[in-house]
Amino acid sequence: MRMVDVIAKKRDGQALTKEEIDFVIAGYTNDEIPDYQMSALAMALYFQDMTTEERVNLTMAMVESGDQINLSDIDGIKVDKHSTGGVGDTTTLILAPLVAAVGVPVAKMSGRGLGHTGGTIDKLESIEGFQVELDGKTFNQLVNKNKIAVVGQSGNLTPADKKLYSLRDVTATVNSIPLIASSIMSKKIASGADAIVLDVKTGSGAFMKELDDAKALAKAMVQIGNGAGRNTIAVISDMNQPLGFAIGNALEVKEAIDTLHGHGPADLHELCLTLGSQMVYLANKANSIEEARSMLEDAIQSGKAIEKFKTFLSSQGGDASVVDDPTKLPTAAYQMEVKATADGYISDIIADEIGIAASMLGAGRITKDSTIDLAVGLVLQKKVGDPVKEGESIVTIHSNKADVAEVIEKIQQAYTITEQEPAENRLVYGVID
Ligand code: URA
Ligand code: CA
Repeated sequence: MRMVDVIAKKRDGQALTKEEIDFVIAGYTNDEIPDYQMSALAMALYFQDMTTEERVNLTMAMVESGDQINLSDIDGIKVDKHSTGGVGDTTTLILAPLVAAVGVPVAKMSGRGLGHTGGTIDKLESIEGFQVELDGKTFNQLVNKNKIAVVGQSGNLTPADKKLYSLRDVTATVNSIPLIASSIMSKKIASGADAIVLDVKTGSGAFMKELDDAKALAKAMVQIGNGAGRNTIAVISDMNQPLGFAIGNALEVKEAIDTLHGHGPADLHELCLTLGSQMVYLANKANSIEEARSMLEDAIQSGKAIEKFKTFLSSQGGDASVVDDPTKLPTAAYQMEVKATADGYISDIIADEIGIAASMLGAGRITKDSTIDLAVGLVLQKKVGDPVKEGESIVTIHSNKADVAEVIEKIQQAYTITEQEPAENRLVYGVID
């Protein structure tokens, strides 16, 4: 087989066979196919699209390009959750113990934050003693015993995706639905998931700013997952403003504790129940989404969810007493208020800009190797739809430096205050299965 023929075939709009896709991905992974040929194919794929069968074959070829996590000695259906990314998205910290509390095995591999988005592993490291590295055997044993363990990414997962994603980044081929969908799904499948719940974000702070694009991406990922034998559903949710109130590592751990106690922010609580009930249902622990939801509500009210969080923390060496005394979490030296510049209603909060403001305080990494300050971040006092008076606090800054003038300016620019009360912001736009 010759790469030039495969490129020509796709350029002319024909579907590639499984053998051709396997040839391309194996050859590109082991450096037999050069970047210039792969770039030409990526551009052809961008314009000519792929059939569902091609997308499944591409995904599985990338899964098979490296290590695959074996979770087969964990009992039950392992359901993973993936979010397409957002600002202040604390859902994993809440969902993992919440669904584990009703018997769903959670064997989760999580990442660190980069740029203005946070990572679950960094958040967990704000708990004294917590170990994010576990060997495979210990990890599986913990999930069998407690139904929950979370580890940092390790091993050589989907090297083909890593290489292709970097290439797409510099050849204007990132924004292609078949390429994004296969990239995300290959990582989930290689991590060992039997079933997958996707949280596809839409809005100003999301990768897919328009609802129609988010729906198309969600549909593409669901088709790939189901085509690869992994029961998959997608929830489309709002990222027109940050989720919850807290943005920053220790601040989000505190917010997760509040939510597991049943007094978290309304939007975060609701999204966790929506995603969580889909996970419980896919794990076959409930006969309907409604039943799954009431099981989760009961786990919060009865205290089972927060107890599970404590068990999870202490099993991985963490100090579980932070749950009853969150003042033991890292705290910043200064707290300052950002004030509203006019009377009216909050009509928009640009999530990306809020994320950048939090990174400026040290909550996020500027490069892969920079260290982050776990204590710092922002707590939103006002969200979209809230009335405000000039001079009232809209955001509390938690900082370890006294001069935060730039951060205040950034936050004031991210907030829009209007005289008219805005239309209600939706949280969930639909479920695709
Ligand atoms: N995130 C991914 O993991 N892959 C893409 O292609 C785009 C976003
Ligand atoms: Ca949050």
